[in-house]
Amino acid sequence: MSLSASSDGIKAISHTDPPPSSSPPSTHHPSTLAIHADDQLNRSTDVSPALHVSTTFRYARDPNDLVPAKDQKTPHPPDAHIYSRETAPTSTRLETLLTPLLHAPCVTYSSGLAALHALYVFLRPARVSIGQGYHGSHGVLALQTKLTGCRVLALDCAADDLGPGDVVHLETPVNPTGEAFCIKAFAEKAHARGAYLLVDATFGPPGLQDPLEWGADVVMHAGTKYLGGHSDLLCGVLASRRDGWVQGLRGERTYLGSVMGSLEGWLGVRSLRTLEVRVQRQSGSCGRLVSWLHGMLEGAGGGEMVREAVERVRHASLQAEDMEWLRQQMPNGYGPVFAIMMKNEGLARRLPSKLELFQHATSLGGVESLIEWRAMSDAKIDTRILRISVGLEHWEDLRDDLSRGFRALIEEENTANATSNPPAPP
Ligand SMILES: Cc1ncc(COP(=O)(O)O)c(C=O)c1O
Repeated sequence: MSLSASSDGIKAISHTDPPPSSSPPSTHHPSTLAIHADDQLNRSTDVSPALHVSTTFRYARDPNDLVPAKDQKTPHPPDAHIYSRETAPTSTRLETLLTPLLHAPCVTYSSGLAALHALYVFLRPARVSIGQGYHGSHGVLALQTKLTGCRVLALDCAADDLGPGDVVHLETPVNPTGEAFCIKAFAEKAHARGAYLLVDATFGPPGLQDPLEWGADVVMHAGTKYLGGHSDLLCGVLASRRDGWVQGLRGERTYLGSVMGSLEGWLGVRSLRTLEVRVQRQSGSCGRLVSWLHGMLEGAGGGEMVREAVERVRHASLQAEDMEWLRQQMPNGYGPVFAIMMKNEGLARRLPSKLELFQHATSLGGVESLIEWRAMSDAKIDTRILRISVGLEHWEDLRDDLSRGFRALIEEENTANATSNPPAPP
C-alpha cells in the first residue's frame, strides 16, 4: 500500500499497482466505455471491480498535508474520499461509468424517487406540468406541494400556463404502456416560457434514447430498472449539462443523505458492464412479442384465444402516426416494456397465474420477464391493464408461454360459462 497526494491535499490510499494513467478516449463505443471509463479509478490489480464498504477514509498522515474543511476545494478529486454520505469509491465509480453513457455529468441516489425528490428540492419550481405515468412520481410531487405550495398542471397544459423556473416533467416511454412522447416538442414548449424539461427516461435507458440530445435540461433514471438490470438494487440517477446543476445537486445530496449504499454501487458497476447487450436484446424481444400479439389481434391465424381475451396492445412500436420523430429519437429500438388491455378485469387478474416464465411481480428492467396486473400497485389505473417487462429469456419461449396462458384462460372461462349457464333441457 502507498499514500498518494491529491490536488487539494486530501490523501487517498492506493495499492502498489498504479492505475492506468488516463481514461479511454471518449471516441470509444458505449459498450467499451461501460467497461473501461472507470479504469483510472481502479486502484488495485483486480480485473473485476473491487468492493469498498468503508464509510470513512483516513486523512493524510503528514500534518503538513492536512487541509481543513474551510480550505478544501470542491468537488474533491474522484479518488479522494472523506465520508461516504458525501462520496465513496464504488458509487463514484458508478457515476464515472454513467457519465459517458448519459453524455453528461451525473449524480446517483438511493432510489429513483430519491433522485426525483432531490431534483425538486434543488429547482423549487412554482409549477410542474406532468402526465399520468408512474404514480410514485406524483407522490413525490405531493410532498413538494406540501413543502413549497408547488402547483401541479397537466402535461398538455397551455404553454402560457408555464413560467420561468417551472418544470415540464416528461416520462418517456411512459409507465405502464411503453408508449413514447416527442422530447423535442416538449423541450420547445418548456423553453419558450423559460421552464425546464425533465425527462424520466427510466423506460428508455442509454442505448435506446438520449433525451439531452433532443433538448432535455436534466435526465432522470430509476437505475433500479435497466441500469441495475438484475432486480437486486435500488438506484436513482440525475444527469445534466447545465452549469453547476450536478455540482449543486451533489452538494445538497450530502444533507438529504440519499446516497447509494456501497454494496448497491458495486452491483451497479457490475451491471453496467452488460447494459448494452441486455437492453438491445430486451428491446428486440419486446418488439417481436408486441408485433406477434398485434398480428393476432389483427386476425393472424391461430389468434382466436388472443382475440377472445385481449382488447388492445400498447407500445411505442405501434404508434404508426409518430414514426417520423420516433425513429429519430429512438433509433436503436423501443423500450422493453409494453401493456396489454384485457377485455375485462377478471381476465387481467387471472392471466399472470396461467404463465410459467413470466413472474407475477411489480418492477421492470431485470433479466427475468415480469408481468403485473397493474391494479396491484397503482390504485388509479384501469383495472384491465397488464404490464409486461421483457427479460432475457428467448422471445419464442416467452411467446409460447403467453400463448399457452391465453389458451388456459379462455378454456377456464368457457368451462365456467358452461357450468353457470347449462344448456336448456331438450
Ligand atoms: C418511470 C419510473 N420512474 C421512477 C420510478 C421510481 O424508481 P425507484 O423505485 O427506484 O424509486 C419508477 C419505479 O417503478 C418508474 O417506473
